[in-house]
Amino acid sequence: MASATQLHQVLLNLGTNSSHAMQASGGIMRIVVRPVTLEGEAAARHQLSPGAYVEILFSDSGHGMDEEIRLRIFDPFFTTKETGQGTGLGLSAVHGIIEAHQGAIEAASEVNVGTTFTIYLPAAVEEEAAPEEAPAPVVRGNNELIAVVDDEDMVRAFVQMALERSGYRVRAFDTAAACLETLRKKPGEFALLLTDQTMPMMKGLELAEAVRQFDLHLPVMIMSGYFSRISPDNLARIGHVSMIAKPFTNAEISQAVHRVMNGQPAVTGPTDQ
Ligand SMILES: Nc1ncnc2c1ncn2[C@@H]1O[C@H](COP(=O)(O)OP(=O)(O)O)[C@@H](O)[C@H]1O
Ligand SMILES: [Mg+2]
Repeated sequence: MASATQLHQVLLNLGTNSSHAMQASGGIMRIVVRPVTLEGEAAARHQLSPGAYVEILFSDSGHGMDEEIRLRIFDPFFTTKETGQGTGLGLSAVHGIIEAHQGAIEAASEVNVGTTFTIYLPAAVEEEAAPEEAPAPVVRGNNELIAVVDDEDMVRAFVQMALERSGYRVRAFDTAAACLETLRKKPGEFALLLTDQTMPMMKGLELAEAVRQFDLHLPVMIMSGYFSRISPDNLARIGHVSMIAKPFTNAEISQAVHRVMNGQPAVTGPTDQ
């Protein structure tokens, strides 16, 4: 019953922090999910009402943190990382999401030993959701060819699968340069360019700009987890550019693509980290 996108973000943010904490010497990240019943006292300790919960234990054997830091980690903009490394927004977003789901989160940590986040989310009781008022329309492509660029194999494979299932053809590229070369050779063949923003050599926006040198109309959609870093002025100047926030589901990417292909306004999403 929870928002899959938001829980994805929770796990991603916790995982990113754990991997940072273990960067120097490696270690183990462990995620345990189990049903628990919180009785009066245990529930009250987390300011929850007694009942059935799903407990998620997210732990790492990283550098840990002292008490002074631990007390501030959920504060927005609190970070111990160097400028450019951390925004301090990860855990405040996590906290907000868990609260919005009527859950609770706490952290326990020991310096040089590791950190464990304990999350409680109310267990869903309904066997099945009430029938939807109107099922979301199934959007399907018409075999249009889409160029997909992402340096991460997993993301590329995921997007390709989602779009192919939705009736599009996909040509995937792992670098902006490879994509640019193909687009240049085959103008008019592609219906959309869907590109990651953050890539080592050439960023998504730079690719869009380069494409505009020889193709004024090809719609471009940028996938990014860091919306705030992309200025709307830049987008407007390049033209026909829309954005979709990472992470997204199968359905979200297919619908966003469908919308752009049908000339509907640019897609935006939550600014998240
Ligand atoms: N798993 C962890 N191990 C040790 N310290 C952590 C861990 N997770 C979070 N922290 C501490 O909490 C701070 C805030 O985390 P977060 O809100 O995600 O922001 P950021 O990662 O951008 O610094 C981090 O800078 C770090 O000091
Ligand atoms: Mg973080």
